[in-house]
Amino acid sequence: MSGGRRVPNIAVVGGQWGDEGKGKVVDLISEHFAVVARFQGGPNAGHTVTIGDRRHAVHQVPSGVFRPGVRIVIGNGTVVDPEKLIEELDQLTAAGFDLADRLFISDRAHVILPLLQQLDALSENSADPGARIGTTQRGIGPTYEAKAARWGIRVADLSDPIQLERRIQRMLDGPAGRRLRDAGEQPEAAAGVARRAHAQWRRLAPHVADTAMLLNDWIDGGANVLFEGAQGTLLDLDHGWYPYVTSSSTMAGGVCAGLGLAPKLIGGVLGVFKAYASRVGAGPMPTECDDGPGGVGERLRERGREYGTTTGRPRRCGWFDGVAARYANRINRFDCICVTLLDVLDAFDTVRIAVEYRVADRRTPTVPPSVAGAMEPVFETLAGWGSDTTGIRAWDALPEAARRYLGRIEEIVGAEVALAGVGPERGQSLVRPGSWLARQLGR
Ligand code: IMP
Repeated sequence: MSGGRRVPNIAVVGGQWGDEGKGKVVDLISEHFAVVARFQGGPNAGHTVTIGDRRHAVHQVPSGVFRPGVRIVIGNGTVVDPEKLIEELDQLTAAGFDLADRLFISDRAHVILPLLQQLDALSENSADPGARIGTTQRGIGPTYEAKAARWGIRVADLSDPIQLERRIQRMLDGPAGRRLRDAGEQPEAAAGVARRAHAQWRRLAPHVADTAMLLNDWIDGGANVLFEGAQGTLLDLDHGWYPYVTSSSTMAGGVCAGLGLAPKLIGGVLGVFKAYASRVGAGPMPTECDDGPGGVGERLRERGREYGTTTGRPRRCGWFDGVAARYANRINRFDCICVTLLDVLDAFDTVRIAVEYRVADRRTPTVPPSVAGAMEPVFETLAGWGSDTTGIRAWDALPEAARRYLGRIEEIVGAEVALAGVGPERGQSLVRPGSWLARQLGR
């Protein structure tokens, strides 16, 4: 709460290809909320939060976990890996974060089983390069596929070991098992999988609930909720560069189905962007700087420590893609945006922003549906600021050239820049006075 006025329910959504620093933004503002809820994705996410000299990473648990007293929800639109979730809960408990009576897991979320993860790895290791997306191999795609095809297993289904074994056997007898056997893989027998999954259920059961009903009750009782997105808009199943996408709805629109909440309950949408672009996995990235040792791509990667939180993979890096960002804003209607990792650009004499793509000699101001053919970015170049911003603690103290850069992003994207990140710590997020975000937080 701030100044006696309740902050509205706000969605925090990635505007690029994930890894924009959503976890950090959620951690920063979560003290103003009663609840933080994840609505899509699963252990493919990796949200890092730095508190003091300790860096914490969460994959399935919402980043609100680091604020004692804030309730955290893993919603029905997510996919849950029970084994990894239990590991995460153990680590959080050992680090001193209490989860009793504040973590709630949807009984309707779908469960990632070992054979579904095996299927993910199978596609990724396929001899056919067209079948490889560069996924995190956490079983995300096959689990959402099972959900859509109506043979998936939900958290509630883990409670009955006899029915569970039957369902898993049906999966093994059906297309999932066939695909594995055809590839020469031997999936584990249903009985063992069911026994383990049921034991995991017993551990998670105190947290399992009908989270849609809980959230609606809490909101009716005056609580406010922060909706924490994972991945980013350009990885959205419908609106990303298909097929190089994740298997869920990563945009603000995903909140309602993923949590069981009406659209009118979303009071605002906050887009999170990096000051440049990064992407892991395959697929188009028009502004990628693949310019070798010492080049822009490598400098961004090293300065931004651009290695995957979940997989450790080096991320592809390049200049800010204003075309993709404008597209993300069109379909999310951000109330404001946060630009993180601005300090990574401190060392560059000039900085660039793509304002259009050239596709087959024609200029296009938006994202085309097809990934066939080259997309040449048309860049605008701006002066860099050439000074260390990491010690800055107030928006107005940012160098003028940095503010000009943010101002240009604002114009191109079409949404107000309300926060700039100049480092990983809580104090290094600079909220712009008078902005939409500052007004909501009563700052
Ligand atoms: P999946 O979500 O594991 O199926 O992977 C599909 C695509 O989304 C791949 O390009 C992944 O690298 C990407 N992806 C999935 N989760 C994240 C994330 O949290 N950050 C960045 N990229 C991600």
